[in-house]
Amino acid sequence: MSDPQATHLSDYRPPAYRVTRTELTFDLDPAATRVKARLHLERHPERDAGLPLTLHGEQLSLKAIALDGEPLEADEYEIDAAGLTVHRVPERFHLDTEVEIAPEANTALEGLYQSNGMYCTQCEAEGFRRITYYPDRPDVMATFSTTVIGDAEREPVLLSNGNPVERGALPNGRHFVTWEDPHPKPSYLFALVAGDLEKVEDSFTTMSGREVTLQIWVEEENLGKTEHAMASLKRAMAWDEQAYGREYDLDLFMIVAVNDFNMGAMENKGLNIFNSAAVLTHPHTATDAAFQRVESIVAHEYFHNWSGNRVTCRDWFQLSLKEGFTVFRDQCFSADTNSPAVKRIEDVSFFRTAQFAEDDGPTAHPVRPDHYIEIGNFYTLTIYEKGAEVVRMLANLVGEAAFRAGSDRYFERFDGQAVTIEDFVGCMAEASGLDLTQFMRWYDQAGTPEIDAHGEYDYANAEYRLILRQRTPATPGQPDKQPLHIPVRLGLVGTKSGRDLPLTLEGETLGSDAVIHLREAEQEFLFTDVSEAPVPSLLRGFSAPVKLRFPYGREDLAFLLAHDGDGFNRWDAGQRLAMLALDDLIAAHRNGVEKVMDTRVIEAFRGLLTAETDDRAVLAEMLTLPSEAYIAEQQPLVDVDAIHAARTFVKQGLATALRDDFLRVYRENRLDEPYAPTPAQIARRSLKNVALSYLMAIEDEEGIELARQQFEADHNMTDVRHALTLLTHSSRDELSEPALRAFGEKWAHDTLVMDQWFAIQVTRPQPDVLDRVKFLMAHPAFSLKNPNKVRALIGTFAGQNRVNFHRLDGEGYRLLADVVIELNRLNPEIAARLITPLTRWARFDEQRQALMKAELERIRAEELSPNVYEVVEKALA
Ligand code: PHE
Ligand code: ZN
Repeated sequence: MSDPQATHLSDYRPPAYRVTRTELTFDLDPAATRVKARLHLERHPERDAGLPLTLHGEQLSLKAIALDGEPLEADEYEIDAAGLTVHRVPERFHLDTEVEIAPEANTALEGLYQSNGMYCTQCEAEGFRRITYYPDRPDVMATFSTTVIGDAEREPVLLSNGNPVERGALPNGRHFVTWEDPHPKPSYLFALVAGDLEKVEDSFTTMSGREVTLQIWVEEENLGKTEHAMASLKRAMAWDEQAYGREYDLDLFMIVAVNDFNMGAMENKGLNIFNSAAVLTHPHTATDAAFQRVESIVAHEYFHNWSGNRVTCRDWFQLSLKEGFTVFRDQCFSADTNSPAVKRIEDVSFFRTAQFAEDDGPTAHPVRPDHYIEIGNFYTLTIYEKGAEVVRMLANLVGEAAFRAGSDRYFERFDGQAVTIEDFVGCMAEASGLDLTQFMRWYDQAGTPEIDAHGEYDYANAEYRLILRQRTPATPGQPDKQPLHIPVRLGLVGTKSGRDLPLTLEGETLGSDAVIHLREAEQEFLFTDVSEAPVPSLLRGFSAPVKLRFPYGREDLAFLLAHDGDGFNRWDAGQRLAMLALDDLIAAHRNGVEKVMDTRVIEAFRGLLTAETDDRAVLAEMLTLPSEAYIAEQQPLVDVDAIHAARTFVKQGLATALRDDFLRVYRENRLDEPYAPTPAQIARRSLKNVALSYLMAIEDEEGIELARQQFEADHNMTDVRHALTLLTHSSRDELSEPALRAFGEKWAHDTLVMDQWFAIQVTRPQPDVLDRVKFLMAHPAFSLKNPNKVRALIGTFAGQNRVNFHRLDGEGYRLLADVVIELNRLNPEIAARLITPLTRWARFDEQRQALMKAELERIRAEELSPNVYEVVEKALA
């Protein structure tokens, strides 16, 4: 097999022929589904006449082909592994094909496949070519008519995009439904679902008074788990009308839950398909975090109806055009419906851990990549989350009114078209009058910019001089970087008053919270009329996706933690303060020196625990230490054991010193009301549960008793899961084993809860956990074919159990590589994602580097899918 080839952005050309209308008929069968397609084609006006017609198609068996009704002779067309070429075609014509495919054999979960006996499709990015021969690229947009034929008993429900227009019975116990989707769409938004499903129905009246039927389709046993998703959908529909003026455009909106799904969910026109974990909730089976995740994913997919479907991407290099924008939209929605401060803290701490690591590794790529081998590998944190940060910067740069005007312009001008990131940013530039030329570098330059800041206060002249220096480290293929346009939101907090001081910059009064624009490699900002010595509060709200260093002393950070006018930066000051202490302890551990607890951290936490607060959710965040993964991200060389030891030491130190406070906080925040995923309840539960984790860190007898009671009280999954995790992580088997057994037996019938049961066990810090991972892989509830199971067991172990995954005997790495090798054949997309922890080898000591690289080499020796090939080649480059 020859090496897979890369596709380049610079090679983009419009297609030679476009499809204006697509008519499909599916005759469903697990082993031999027949797909008839009639494509109405015409030459693209920008392309020459007389070009051959090339259609994508993979793993299809062609049964018939005709052009304008005339069957084609064998020498008039050609088929290879990538598709079909018809040598001579007229300017306008229709092409009929019939192919056979085998959904039951499809373990890659791309194209048409089966999940729990039902049929479903996944076409983004290039799955449609596994269904029929087609120009499978997003700039080909057609209206679709789809007839689905199935067995009336096994598949009573037959769904596709748009509106049902006809249905009827057929001979041999078969029946059919025909769907018509009036909105032109690319093939990646096509969907089909067939099976024995039940629905929950509701309705929404749009701002112009149209009534839309809303349906959530699930297997019967899940009927009781749809309420939250439905409520979230209605909130999202109302929010998009109010925040963006966007109304839904069909009479029917459907969501389907499937168990086997590679990603979270998919925005197919009118027929969103969801991983069941991203839509089903019940207080007894889903945690607060899961409720919030469901709300945001339901909203995300719904928002794609405009940002993605009505206006789509010209090519897959523009993926962030729809994903970055839509993540930004769902983040704003969740911020508006929950606690904005907590939402930002959660998003940023995830971003700084996971996206920074991606930007810092061998698979680093720009928000708009310029080449790829396998587009499936580019559904990344950089495209999604960094893309969203870039849109957020744009929104902040142009201001609220211009951003709305720019987005209105974008949706109106490009409705029904497949466009580029320039088109989007161009609308923002027009609406605001700003020059965004330099800003565009954010899309094309990979890597996390680093800002080194320092400042001086001049008493005599009442001036504060702030110097910012930016630099973006080299990334693979991009050795030299240009300075970026970086918005830095800041305040100066007076050390005497403890207040944000009014800001005057170059004679201009800016209020006490302002954005300065860093455009040069080095730039100086002189603030005048600064009446007292300040501590600067920089990058408020994480105003740009950068690493910002400032030589803060511990007193400065403790001061900001108490006084910063910006809630996000108050939290960040606490994180920085904890990091300073952790750095010392990591060094002590490495040098074999006795560890000493920094009393300033204790005092800062005591202050937090005893101060009056009405924002419990933010307080819970402030009391949470940086994760091991985040700490690792801050170290030049990752020492997993030292990090684990240092973090455990700080946690125990705080728990010992502040035991009574934690106990009090736990008791004060217990709830008697019935469960509801409201911000107020969620805040109390998270604060109470943070307190409980401190008590369990020292295995305090009262804490253990509370954890046990919380587990047994069985109020809701948030509390049960948290208690079970703490018991499972304790050093005492007599605490963990009975609880795990009881939980596993109680929930054996619920596949989503069993995923949690797997994940909880494999994060145990005890060294025997690797055997448990292997043991659980043989558990009847586990299956390598189900992506959720793979993520819960293998992904969680490799990604979150750092000390054990990085064992010095290399057994953790070997286990992961074994799974990757098997999944490479079954499901390449999941296999490629799973490799991630191994690609980060450069961050570890030599011994671990050698072990990790050896496993990557072992994977490389296999016959690889393009997905795994691309990741492994980059990792070993
Ligand atoms: N487009 C989907 C989303 O972000 C994600 C997805 C990509 C799902 C590829 C499946 C396959 O909403
Ligand atoms: Zn998306």
